[in-house]
Amino acid sequence: MTTNEIRDRFLEFFKSHGHDLQQSAPIVNKDDPSLMFVNAGMNQFKDVFLGNEKPKHPRVTNSQKCLRVSGKHNDLEEVGVDTYHHTLFEMLGNWSFGDYFQTEAIDMAWKFLTQELKIAPENLYATYFEGHQGDGLEADTEAKNLWLKYLPEERILKGNKKDNFWEMGDVGPCGPCSEIHIDVRPQADREKVSGASLVNQDHPQVIEIWNLVFIAYNRFADGSLKPLPAKHVDTGMGLERLAMVLQGKMATYDIDLFAKFIAYLEEVSGKRYGHTDTKPDVAFRVIADHIRAIAFAIADGQLPSNTGAGYVIRRILRRAVRFGYSFLDFKEPFLYAMVPTLVHEMGGYFDELKKQEQFIIKVIREEELAFYKTLSAGIQKLQQYMEEFAANKDLPGEKAFELYDTFGFPFDLTQLILRENAWKTSEAGFNKAMDAQKNRSKKAAAQDVADWVELKAGEQTEFVGYDALTCETQVLRYRKVSQKGKDFYHLVLAKTPFYPEGGGQVGDSGVLQLGTEKIEVLTTKKENNLILHICEQLPQDLSLECTALVDAEKRDATKKNHTVTHLMHLALREVLGKHVEQRGSLVEPDYMRFDFSHFEKLKPEEAAAVENRVNAMIRENIALEEFRAIPKAQAEEMGAMALFGEKYGDTVRAIRFGPSVELCGGTHVKATGEIALAKIVSEGSVAAGVRRIEVKTGKAALNWYNDQLAELNAVKGLFKNSKDITKEVATVLEKNKKLEQRIKAQEEKEKQAFKDNLLRAKKPLANGLEFVSYAGAMDGGSAKDVAIQCKNQENLVAVLAVSDKDKAMVHIALGKNAIDKGLDAKALIKETAPLIKGGGGGQAAMASAGGKDTSNLSAVISKIEDLVSQ
Ligand code: SER
Repeated sequence: MTTNEIRDRFLEFFKSHGHDLQQSAPIVNKDDPSLMFVNAGMNQFKDVFLGNEKPKHPRVTNSQKCLRVSGKHNDLEEVGVDTYHHTLFEMLGNWSFGDYFQTEAIDMAWKFLTQELKIAPENLYATYFEGHQGDGLEADTEAKNLWLKYLPEERILKGNKKDNFWEMGDVGPCGPCSEIHIDVRPQADREKVSGASLVNQDHPQVIEIWNLVFIAYNRFADGSLKPLPAKHVDTGMGLERLAMVLQGKMATYDIDLFAKFIAYLEEVSGKRYGHTDTKPDVAFRVIADHIRAIAFAIADGQLPSNTGAGYVIRRILRRAVRFGYSFLDFKEPFLYAMVPTLVHEMGGYFDELKKQEQFIIKVIREEELAFYKTLSAGIQKLQQYMEEFAANKDLPGEKAFELYDTFGFPFDLTQLILRENAWKTSEAGFNKAMDAQKNRSKKAAAQDVADWVELKAGEQTEFVGYDALTCETQVLRYRKVSQKGKDFYHLVLAKTPFYPEGGGQVGDSGVLQLGTEKIEVLTTKKENNLILHICEQLPQDLSLECTALVDAEKRDATKKNHTVTHLMHLALREVLGKHVEQRGSLVEPDYMRFDFSHFEKLKPEEAAAVENRVNAMIRENIALEEFRAIPKAQAEEMGAMALFGEKYGDTVRAIRFGPSVELCGGTHVKATGEIALAKIVSEGSVAAGVRRIEVKTGKAALNWYNDQLAELNAVKGLFKNSKDITKEVATVLEKNKKLEQRIKAQEEKEKQAFKDNLLRAKKPLANGLEFVSYAGAMDGGSAKDVAIQCKNQENLVAVLAVSDKDKAMVHIALGKNAIDKGLDAKALIKETAPLIKGGGGGQAAMASAGGKDTSNLSAVISKIEDLVSQ
């Protein structure tokens, strides 16, 4: 069975057992600040487990893209080094939300593996939780007893909290788990050493394939556990590992999918993959693994960048490139060329890859090119350091860190180059510098999040902000968050008109009034399904009725900009073509920013056409049609575009303004005429293949035009007769250019004459050399030119000591014979620089100094004449 067939079998099996098939959530997390990437299938169901959200179906099955490269579950450094970890992997899951529990979960897992897939039961092991005193948890004998139905006791092993109590992060839903492990070693090995002794021992062929988690608790920030309102099942099976078992392989990297990548890498590198742990083999695995993480992240809307999730993706890409560069001798981009194979293999199930193939290729290629440039800049810097520290042939660890930190130059590459040159560096020193920096940024980002204080447990928020800017409500829960010595409070309300930041639109600000007390809401954000009102103060009496009041002026300006993003999106697609897709947006009260895929700069006439189209729609005063909860399919039929990397439910909200239809959760004008005016005020590039426009609307657009006019009028005011200002300015510029040319020619002549005069006054010295000098006012640049010209005269020693405004400059030029006699302009300059209170340097034939003291110019001349004569 191919990997694709195995995925289908799993999903079909659970569908036939009453589970609803759901799509994988995008891997880039938008609404959970505690988690950058989806790291487990359960992430998107966190609020269901906690009781904050009602499940739409009691049983669900899916294949979730997971990325374990940051936070609590981080495998990045192992990936490729061993043969069974991955950055991105697919997690097959079945879920029960308060429906079935341990019995059915274990029964179905066993049935699927041994009956459906016919895996030999004698190679399987199960583990169960041994309990934990500190957490007050008993051993999970229930699970053990259930396994006794299928497995002999010696293949049911107990495990500790680390292996058998699953937690998504430091806080949140969690529970004991029961893992299924498999022993795929050859028969002979199995007879020699029992599989049981190798379970959870990092043996590459005795590995966990499926984790059945019995979610029953919530972990709080203070470390305590509280039982959840209902018990749930969360299972996760690594698709790649299952494929390895079914395809009779010893490593996940040998399954059908990765074999294709490795074959490509063998072809372009001319090297063979040997399934060993040598560096080139590690490189094969690293690259075969990383291409998926990179491509999927880009497909889900995360471009490589310098911060946050984008930086993690950039680091993964660079890790792949540097392994290719160092161990497979790739000296030019190679990753991007793997995308078509990936799309061919995985694009059938993951449409987002297929639809964005060209874009993904483009982004990866540009990133690779940029990194090769970084590598060569790093190599240059390293060479510079190798001159500086040549005495001991030992590069200080902190310099290696500087290379890593400011040039993105990987430490192991530094080590490799040093080793090749019989140099060394200190890994401890590198780590020390790294730790110091980590501590600095940790301190800057440190946030202390207290647990929620529940006032009305179990209740959920109703959002009324599409229809109202104010409402009567109560506080449901709050928590305190401290950052950089400042305290904030997050308040959750029973009902709220405050729009939480999302879909590019900024969160609402406003006021909460409880009795006579007024509390300012700085902004509003979402965390999974909670709407957080962020305040600097906590109301004194939280039991009072609360009036929530949104800042209407800010909301009004913001919604105009949001509607304009939709109109711009439509107009851009009409004018530039259907390849234009939204890549991000920011909707603020005073402007909006829109990023879209397009491969070249907008021509002025294209920008004008887009703007004209949008303004025509504004003048048409098209009324808003809002479809608040319609099936996604219906919205798509209306022509609504779904954005990649966004999570949509079964029902969606669609916003239509005439020909523009979008799936959108934001706030909008009632009719386009409210916007009055839209103006693109800038256009540029943000990343490979992504352009950005910034647009002002309404009053802000009018102000922008007025500012431009004021500037133009100011320019006109400078001219007496300003009928045709463009012509006037052009004439002045032309005249100016001619004058500059004339001045330059004149200066050349003067310089020539000056030099001729200087040389006429040559003074013979006793040692056969000739001396010329000048002390006085002159511009520094011309003096230097003259000195340079004097160098050609074999016997000449020329000294120009000049004052240029309030600065002193000395230039010394020596002819060839002067140097042969042992004179050195650089040494002479060092001697005389103190006389002008300055410093300088240069070469043997020509050196210069600059200083603050212009009163000793003649003394400089006599000093040099003395030195030269001696
Ligand atoms: N949450 C568990 C895991 O990620 C099972 O899905 O391993």
